[in-house]
Formats: sequence, C-alpha cells, structure tokens
Amino acid sequence: MNRYLLPLSVLGTAVGGAVLLRDYVAGGACPSKATIPGKTVIVTGANTGIGKQTALELARRGGNIILACRDMEKCEAAAKDIRGETLNHRVRARHLDLASLKSVREFAAKITEEEGQVHILVNNAAVMRCPHWTTEDGFEMQFGVNHLGHFLLTNLLLDTLKASAPSRIINLSSLAHVAGHIDFDDLNWEKRKYDTKAAYCQSKLAVILFTKELSRRLQGTGVTVNALHPGVARTELGRHTGMHSSAFSSFTLGPIFWLLVKSPELAAQPSTYLAVAEELGGVSGKYFDGLKEKPPAPEAEDEEVAQRLWAESARLVGLEMSGGSSVRGQPLPK
Ligand SMILES: NC(=O)c1ccc[n+]([C@@H]2O[C@H](COP(=O)([O-])OP(=O)(O)OC[C@H]3O[C@@H](n4cnc5c(N)ncnc54)[C@H](OP(=O)(O)O)[C@@H]3O)[C@@H](O)[C@H]2O)c1
Repeated sequence: MNRYLLPLSVLGTAVGGAVLLRDYVAGGACPSKATIPGKTVIVTGANTGIGKQTALELARRGGNIILACRDMEKCEAAAKDIRGETLNHRVRARHLDLASLKSVREFAAKITEEEGQVHILVNNAAVMRCPHWTTEDGFEMQFGVNHLGHFLLTNLLLDTLKASAPSRIINLSSLAHVAGHIDFDDLNWEKRKYDTKAAYCQSKLAVILFTKELSRRLQGTGVTVNALHPGVARTELGRHTGMHSSAFSSFTLGPIFWLLVKSPELAAQPSTYLAVAEELGGVSGKYFDGLKEKPPAPEAEDEEVAQRLWAESARLVGLEMSGGSSVRGQPLPK
C-alpha cells in the first residue's frame, strides 16, 4: 500500500495544480449581478462561440437582444436556442455581413429606423487566419471584417447610441494584437506576401486603436467604448487554421488545450462584464484582459497612429465626418 502512496500523492498534486492553473488562466465569472431590462443590445457574430454566449448572458439579464449575423439560418437557430434557454422572448435575428459595406449600411439603417435606440453594441464577430480572401469591397478579409466593418457599423449607429445614453460599445480584440503592426503603406496586403497570422494581429491591433480614438471623440456624450481580450476559448475561430481537422494536433495538443482553453461560456464573461457592470459606467478607452484592465501593447497607445488609422478607415469605408461624429456614408474610390 505504502509504495503507491508517493506516486498517488504526486499525481494528486499535479492534477490539483493543473485544475488551479486552469481556473487561474480561465478567469472567473462576471462579478456583476446587474440586469438590463428593456435595454437594446446588438451582438455581432452571435450565432456561435463567444458571441452566442454573450447574447445569452445578456438575454438572461433581461435585454432586448439583436443577433447580427451573416447566415440567417444559423442566426434564427441561435435566437431560438437563446429564447428557449432564457425564456426571454425579446431575442431576434437580423442580417449583417461585415464583409459587405452595403450590408453594414442596410443593417444600420434598419436598426435606426425600427429600434430607435441602442444601449449596448458588442462588436464581437471576427474571422481568423483565413486564406488571402477579400471582402465585397476589395479589402483584405480580416482587416475588412474585424476592423473596417465594425468601424463603419459603429459610426453609423453613433447618433442612436448617443440618443440612448448612457450606452456602451464593447470591441472584441485579442492578445494577438501585441504581435500586430499597422502598415499604412499596405493596410490591405496588396503589396506584401500575405501572412495570415500577421493580418489577424494587425486587425486586432486596429480594433484597440479604433477604441482609443473613438473614446476620445465620445468624451462627454455618455457613450463609453472599451476593448477586450476574452481569453483563449474553444470556439470555431480556428476553423481556417487546420487545428480542428487534424487528429494528430487534437491528440497531441488536447491536454494543453484542456489546461489553457476556456469554454465559450467563460470567455463571454468579460464582454458581459463590460456591458453591464455598474462600476464600469464611466470607464472608457480601456483594454481589458479578461476581467482585468491592463495596458495594451505600446503601438495600441500611440495617438498619432490611432488618428491616422481613423482617417484612413473613414476614407476606405466612405465616411464623411462632420462635427466629429455625425456620419454621411458615401462610398469613396479606394
Ligand atoms: N476564441 C478565442 O480563443 C479568441 C481569442 C481572442 C479573441 N477572440 C475574439 O473573440 C471574438 C469571438 O470569437 P469566437 O472565438 O467566438 O469565434 P467564432 O466561434 O469563429 O465566431 C465568430 C463569429 O463571427 C462571425 N463572422 C465571421 N465573419 C463574419 C461576417 N463577414 N459578417 C458577420 N459575422 C461574421 C461568425 O459567423 P459564421 O458562423 O457565419 O462564420 C461567427 O458568428 C472574435 O472577435 C475573436 O477575434 C477569440
């Protein structure tokens, strides 16, 4: 019996340590119990992964939820799931393809006309490390969907968000932004050899720079905007990386994944927290790693880069800015 004691206690310590490490890495549940009855919420890319769980959390808290997705079949199915699980019947599916400026404009026009108010906008949708695809308007897909699509959407909804104040914008970035760099000579990867990873990192750095500049522009309006890294989560985000389809990588990396990867439910906690927590009411222009505010990478703090990216993004999506925020969206030649 005694000879099993040492190995068993070593194993127990290892498993206990692994569970503690996993909990530490995963971060906790949203500490706020705040509810949002009657608040209008938009979550982009809400048919699966972190977006779906965020929509579910916010539906549970009484919000009037709009799932904004490109595939209406998946969107309706997710809305039905969320209604069934939360018994909140104010959960609706709406079409939004962030890879099409026309679709973004149509969606924003419909929301402005039909809803009249938006209290929480969660810019969650993203594509990661896809092949060298372009959007309908010719932008590199990751920059186009992750940054430009949300940039236009947010700007088109700004007047409604201001009229609904206090209101909040939550932008999903990623820790991957630290490896990003904004290449103003080639934002859309037309000159360089395409690098799927660097393109994702650039798009997620752009999201934080957008957050910082927007926050400066929104001072005094009652609309806040923050960016976050949700943690590494078990979702469909890796669909273009080959990791999902490889039995070898699933087998070899499985234990590491178990340790380091969150469930979508846990990964939705930071978005939920930023959307509802009363104590964050006046917090804007910040970057959160999970539930904790942290400084982002130095390039993400560079005001000059943020202003230049704003001007370039506005030109690319065809925004004419007047008075710093009102928008007359006219397509401009690229
Ligand atoms: N999972 C992670 O480990 C992780 C880590 C850091 C940051 N994040 C960020 O967290 C957010 C959510 O990611 P996730 O992990 O939940 O990914 P996911 O499971 O792949 O979900 C992404 C969502 O974005 C949608 N989407 C993609 N292209 C779109 C388009 N053109 N128009 C509208 N919607 C589009 C997808 O719709 P379809 O299903 O139709 O494709 C899907 O609903 C992303 O911003 C991601 O960068 C995730």
